[in-house]
Amino acid sequence: MTPPQTVSPTTHDRVIVESFLGDGEHRTLADDVLDGLTRPFKELPPKHFYDAHGADLFDRICELPEYYPTRCERAILEQRSAEIVERTGAAELVELGSGTAAKTRLLLSAMHEAGTLNRYVPIDVTEGMVRDSAARLVEEFDGLRVHGIVGDFERHLGRVPEPVDGRPRIVAFLGGTIGNFTPGSRRRFLRGLSQLLGPDDFLLLGTDLVKDPAVLEAAYDDSAGVTAAFNRNVLTVLNRELDADFAVDAYEHVAFFDRDREWIEMRLRAQRPQRVTVGKLGLRLTFAAGEELRTEISAKFTPERISGDLAAAGMELVETLTDQDGLFALTLARIRAA
Ligand code: SAH
Ligand code: AVI
Repeated sequence: MTPPQTVSPTTHDRVIVESFLGDGEHRTLADDVLDGLTRPFKELPPKHFYDAHGADLFDRICELPEYYPTRCERAILEQRSAEIVERTGAAELVELGSGTAAKTRLLLSAMHEAGTLNRYVPIDVTEGMVRDSAARLVEEFDGLRVHGIVGDFERHLGRVPEPVDGRPRIVAFLGGTIGNFTPGSRRRFLRGLSQLLGPDDFLLLGTDLVKDPAVLEAAYDDSAGVTAAFNRNVLTVLNRELDADFAVDAYEHVAFFDRDREWIEMRLRAQRPQRVTVGKLGLRLTFAAGEELRTEISAKFTPERISGDLAAAGMELVETLTDQDGLFALTLARIRAA
């Protein structure tokens, strides 16, 4: 197995952080730009939103009055974490796209209360968030060990350490981030994810639910313009990382609910014709006035879509928990018994 690019010494003996992103990451950004921006309908994958500034903007999104998913998921975790921990007996929490781990501490706290808490394994592309959350959590929870992975959950799930002493674990994928995959790749991804689960392990999956399009569209086009700034930030990332010259302010934030596909789509629309050079790739691009670049889809779920996806990935639903308004769901699942 290729060694990680960096295993950093940390100041805390209960923290280890491995990074699998280095020059290779610039290559994937370059590949995504070459692949996505040279198509007739331009598109970029959403993982490039999250540089340090994008991560801060996402945190601000979570506080917006219109953006209900974070509040709803937190409410479910506040009410039901103890039950989830009792049901799973988990000693370990692996979390994909962990971010600031703000809601995660509710689960860790319930594991601590139950006396089972042993290790937390956060995986995120944003290094600062993995390091900061690891440092904070070991201070907060006595005896907790953190094995952080700075990596891409689409490429580095094989780097997740084996469970300690074969004790049960929860693999959490919160926030509705699973909705940022297209349907086919979502099922493939869930199938790969199921490989992390042993017979005693559980997946805890957060999904945003289908609802009134007006509520959905407000959540992705807030009145303070934070989501618009988050969306445009991806162009700043391309300017900095690939020596591109996007005139960031020339692109308008667009967010709409596609009623047929039942997903939110975010785009950036060129307000006037644009010529763009991507220096590091020797690439020249043009945008016609009004031309749009798709930057994210955020799929919304029905109970059937959740159970169908899990079944297609070889898993079975154990229980679905929702908030009191039925806006968001947290689903506990496990490998389907043979
Ligand atoms: N789980 C948190 C954060 C959700 S935001 C919550 O529920 O609030 C999505 C997170 O996933 C960000 O922290 C982002 O950096 C991370 N992310 C996005 N794509 C990723 C990828 N391909 N691999 C690893 N992390 C990714
Ligand atoms: C991370 N992900 C679940 C968020 C979402 O709602 O799809 C990202 C986001 N995009 C705009 N606002 C929030």
